[in-house]
Amino acid sequence: MNYYEPVPGLRLPAAAMGCMRIAEMEYGALERQVLLAAELGMNFFDHADFYGEFRSEARFGEVLARNPGLREKIYVQSKCGIRIGGIYDSSAEHITKSVENSLRSLHTDYLDFLLIHRPDPLARPDEIARAFEGLHAAGKVRYFGVSNHNPAQIEALQQAVPHKLLINQMQMSILHTPMIDHGVNVNTKFAGAEDRDGSVLEYCKAKQIMLQAWSPFQYGFFEGVFVDNPKFP
Ligand SMILES: NC(=O)c1ccc[n+]([C@@H]2O[C@H](COP(=O)([O-])OP(=O)(O)OC[C@H]3O[C@@H](n4cnc5c(N)ncnc54)[C@H](OP(=O)(O)O)[C@@H]3O)[C@@H](O)[C@H]2O)c1
Repeated sequence: MNYYEPVPGLRLPAAAMGCMRIAEMEYGALERQVLLAAELGMNFFDHADFYGEFRSEARFGEVLARNPGLREKIYVQSKCGIRIGGIYDSSAEHITKSVENSLRSLHTDYLDFLLIHRPDPLARPDEIARAFEGLHAAGKVRYFGVSNHNPAQIEALQQAVPHKLLINQMQMSILHTPMIDHGVNVNTKFAGAEDRDGSVLEYCKAKQIMLQAWSPFQYGFFEGVFVDNPKFP
C-alpha cells in the first residue's frame, strides 16, 4: 500500500472504500467488507451525509458500534453542503447540524475529515470558516477539505479558513481524464487541450493537497462500470 503524507505524521492510504452504495447491503456482507478493507490497510472510508438517501452513514455506524476498537484504527471522512432536494446550503448552521447528524449516525465522536461536497456559488467563505472553526474547537472534526473544486474556488475558501484544506475529491478514472488530458496536450489545437478545471491537478500537487478519485470504475457521469463491459473490450 502506498501512502500520502499531506502534513507530517498524517499517513493516508492510497486506496479507500467509498460508502455511497452501502445502504442496501446485507449487514454481514457490509461488516465483512469493512473489516477486510481495514485489515488490508485500506483504512479510509468515504461518506457523505446524503449517501443512500441519508441512510449509509447509519449502516456504517452499526459496524462501528458492533466492533469496539475499530474506530481508532480507521479514518472516517464525510461531506456536507447539499440538502434534501439537491439544494446547496453552505451556511455555518447547516454545516454544523449536518456534521452533528453524521456523528450520531456513525456512532462516533469525531470525523477525521470533513469536505464541502460541491462548490456553492452562493457560499460565503467566512460562514464556512466559522463552522469549521467551531467543529474543530469542539473536537468534532480533525481535518478539512473540498470536493469538485477548482483552484480558484479552493483559494477563495482557503483565504477565510485557518486550517489548511488537505483534500480535493474529483471524478477520475481511466475513462474520465480531463484533469490529465489538457496537461498532456498543452499548447496544441487538439480537443483534449481544453482546460476544464483550472489546472487542478498541477495546483493540488503544488499545494500538497491530496486528490481523491471518485467513481474510479465508472465511465461518463454514472453511466455504468467499464470493467467487464463489452463497450470497452
Ligand atoms: N465527491 C463526489 O462528488 C462523489 C461522487 C460520486 C462518488 N463519490 C465517492 O466515490 C465512491 C466510488 O464511487 P462509485 O461507487 O460511483 O464508483 P465506482 O467505485 O467506480 O463504481 C462502483 C461500482 O463498481 C462496481 N465494481 C467494483 N469493482 C468491480 C469489478 N472488479 N468488476 C465489475 N464491477 C465492479 C461495483 O459493483 P458491485 O456493487 O457489484 O460491487 C459498483 O457498482 C463513492 O462510494 C463515494 O464515496 C464521490
